[in-house]
Amino acid sequence: MELKEKRKLAFFDTKPYDRTWFEPLCAEKYEVTFFEEKLNTHTARFTEGFDAVCAFVNDDVNAAAVGRMAGNGVRILAMRCAGYSNVDLKAAEGRITVARVPAYSPHAVAEHTMGLLLTLNRRLHRAYIRTRDFNFSINGLTGIDLYGKTVGVIGTGKIGRAFIDICRGFGMRVLAYDKYPSGEDIGAEYVSLDRLFSESDVISLHCPLTGETRHLLDADAFSKMKRGVYLLNTSRGALVDSAALLDALNSGVVRGAGLDVYEEEGDFFYEDLSDTNVRDDTLALLISRPNVFLTAHQAFLTEEALRNIAEETVRNLDDFFAGRPVANEVKAKGRG
Ligand code: NAI
Repeated sequence: MELKEKRKLAFFDTKPYDRTWFEPLCAEKYEVTFFEEKLNTHTARFTEGFDAVCAFVNDDVNAAAVGRMAGNGVRILAMRCAGYSNVDLKAAEGRITVARVPAYSPHAVAEHTMGLLLTLNRRLHRAYIRTRDFNFSINGLTGIDLYGKTVGVIGTGKIGRAFIDICRGFGMRVLAYDKYPSGEDIGAEYVSLDRLFSESDVISLHCPLTGETRHLLDADAFSKMKRGVYLLNTSRGALVDSAALLDALNSGVVRGAGLDVYEEEGDFFYEDLSDTNVRDDTLALLISRPNVFLTAHQAFLTEEALRNIAEETVRNLDDFFAGRPVANEVKAKGRG
């Protein structure tokens, strides 16, 4: 029997865990070239002769990159993530089909969000360093009970709701804000943003980055918050104006910030830059603060999520090349 020629897939921003999950699933049908480089205007030239491209959160799939890929014959861009604010969908329209993985493990992200809060509140990151140094003093490590406190959840989609469930398990009162509130009982009271700001002891962001939500938390928003609030952002960095956050940390309005994302993370995250001079004063100032705990966009990183991402991405590619509708296609005007 004649073997069908394999489709050629260019995989960008590859990390070892990507290969672990994608290689066995792709082996039969796709000839995969794993590029370590991020996809951008310059690296899009590598896509010549490829049928498909797989990209991730910090690839810069701007109009020029899309144009280059389309010119090179790429027909589908399979994002191996939920967010797609880094893809110029307008430029892709009618030229390249764009697909994503809408949900791979909302629990992974929600659990990491609570991990950030527990770490910050009980100073686990500082305690870890101390005890390794045989410093068993607990001075300065005092937190607050989360039980009975109010958490404000902005964005009540899959991750927001998983986080609400966790917070309720801790005995917290939950307020929520969503531009498109759910009609179901989500275990939280929907309120206005201003009320959420003024009543919450903890604020957690779970809405997508859009033109409207960029810098949703700016100086004005911080000025409406309760003094001593904890801020959690595992959604997208640009939801928060980082300079305004630094001011709010300095003034004590924000007691601590647990961040898995950063506005300019595309330049840094997922790389070992420990030997280089990172020129981003805002990032440096944030990291240097003991009441800021930052992880490098790893909230999704569980075995279950990685398996789901790989399976769903390959399903998107299979559907496309088999001529079936791609259920997870994203288009210029859709919201997600
Ligand atoms: P989802 O689409 O299920 O929920 C998003 C919710 O935000 C929806 O209920 C929507 O109505 C709401 N929303 C839309 N515009 C809004 C606005 N202007 N104001 C308030 N709410 C608004 O998305 P899901 O799966 O819960 O993901 C949320 C975000 O988490 C994603 O957009 C992505 O940026 C981020 N994410 C981060 C990961 C990480 O590893 N740190 C991994 C996966 C997602």
